Amino acid sequence: MPGTVLVGTQWGDEGKGKVTDFLAPNYDYVVRFQGGNNAGHTVIHGKTKLALHLIPSGIIHDDVVSVIGNGVVVDPRVLIQEMSELEAQGIDCSGLKISGNAHVIMPYHLLLDGASERRLGDNKIGTTKRGIGPCYQDKYERCGIRVQDLVDEKIFREKLEAVVPLKNDILMKVYGFEAYELPTVEEILDEYLALARVIAPHVVDASPLLNDALREGKDILFEGAQATQLDIDHGTYPFVTSSNCTAGGACTGTGVGPTKIDRVLGIAKAYMTRVGSGPFPTELFDEDGEKLGTVGHEFGVTTGRKRRCGWYDAVIIKYAADVNGLTDIALTKLDVLSCMETIKICVAYEADGVRYETVPGSQTAFHHAKPVYEEMPGWNCDITGCKTFDELPQAAKDYVARLEELAGVRISIITVGPDRDQTILNGWEL
Ligand code: GDP
Ligand code: IMO
Ligand code: MG
Repeated sequence: MPGTVLVGTQWGDEGKGKVTDFLAPNYDYVVRFQGGNNAGHTVIHGKTKLALHLIPSGIIHDDVVSVIGNGVVVDPRVLIQEMSELEAQGIDCSGLKISGNAHVIMPYHLLLDGASERRLGDNKIGTTKRGIGPCYQDKYERCGIRVQDLVDEKIFREKLEAVVPLKNDILMKVYGFEAYELPTVEEILDEYLALARVIAPHVVDASPLLNDALREGKDILFEGAQATQLDIDHGTYPFVTSSNCTAGGACTGTGVGPTKIDRVLGIAKAYMTRVGSGPFPTELFDEDGEKLGTVGHEFGVTTGRKRRCGWYDAVIIKYAADVNGLTDIALTKLDVLSCMETIKICVAYEADGVRYETVPGSQTAFHHAKPVYEEMPGWNCDITGCKTFDELPQAAKDYVARLEELAGVRISIITVGPDRDQTILNGWEL
């Protein structure tokens, strides 16, 4: 099983952190390949709930090497803060490896993210304001600063001297900032060179490192952040993030070829949630939506925002199965549905008089999509202690079987609570 890619199938927060942490002991490496600290991955470590934003969720396992790949955007302030918080919990981060090709989030990226959202007003994307979009924008404009530049004082200064006047010009002329509000090249250098000294020992050439590991027969788990519907190409554009969160991103974001990947595990919550703006056909605005949010503790790990909640959307999961080439699904938070008398599954949409069995190619149609539901009886009992599929009540088994049928992909992992041991293996081979 050389390479397994783990991706979100919905709009994020499906429980990728929990499943990564559960699977990590069976891998030699856990690698983040895209996104940045817009992610918030929860891992329960003993009695402590850890929120990981940049560091791979395998970090708490001593025998697992954690790698931040070239496709990630790294805010050095956040990285160092996260490392020190983990160290304070007794988690050793000394072996963390960071690709020299990863791009660095700079202070002007944070300012641009906030300013652009303010300017969009009611049309805002609802970003996490962590500078993610502006950093990727510079990557593609080829004026970005990479981790390898950060740790080379001469190059770092040269690149900053070229880019800071341009960014400050935009911030002043387009967004109305005053010069005194904007950091100068010297101020940035002062702060970032100190950060660079902490990061320098972790910088590696990640692609050869991972390919050598694969040649030695090691196993790699690629930990996706965000999710299929937030993917820059395949999501609900423009209400998406700025990276490829789908499985292909694992190759471009690490420098490992697709022939090295033999399993793609899609994480799907047993209902849907979304943070930020954008279409969400099964969103609930009633008591059921409130109930899912309360019972499921649906508040963002990164921004604390309340997540929008709705019924499971099988059309979206089928789409995720195709776009990612899923071999398996991990169905998470099944226990939260124990609070429902009746459970709905969206099996198709109707938009402007047309029925869609698949996600419409037109975003206009998707914005108009009304869910077509199928109903199933709930089970109304506590399932958080179930250890095997057979122990689940019949109605829960039927629900899983129906979702499996609709996705056309086996549901080989089921989670019934946030703890590591609240995980049912249903065909997944460790
Ligand atoms: P991620 O971004 O995909 O890693 O997911 P988040 O960590 O943002 O959100 C998932 C939340 O659900 C976290 O608070 C987890 O502790 C919690 N969680 C994960 N799996 C389960 C589960 O099976 N049941 C319940 N009740 N909570 C879960
Ligand atoms: P994890 O990895 C949920 C959403 C934001 C916003 C959009 C763009 O924890 O699942 P960005 O700051 O990336 O430019 O914001 O993407 N978003 C997430 N939603 N979970 C995440 O990560 C997210 N990362 C970004 O809310 O709608
Ligand atoms: Mg999250």
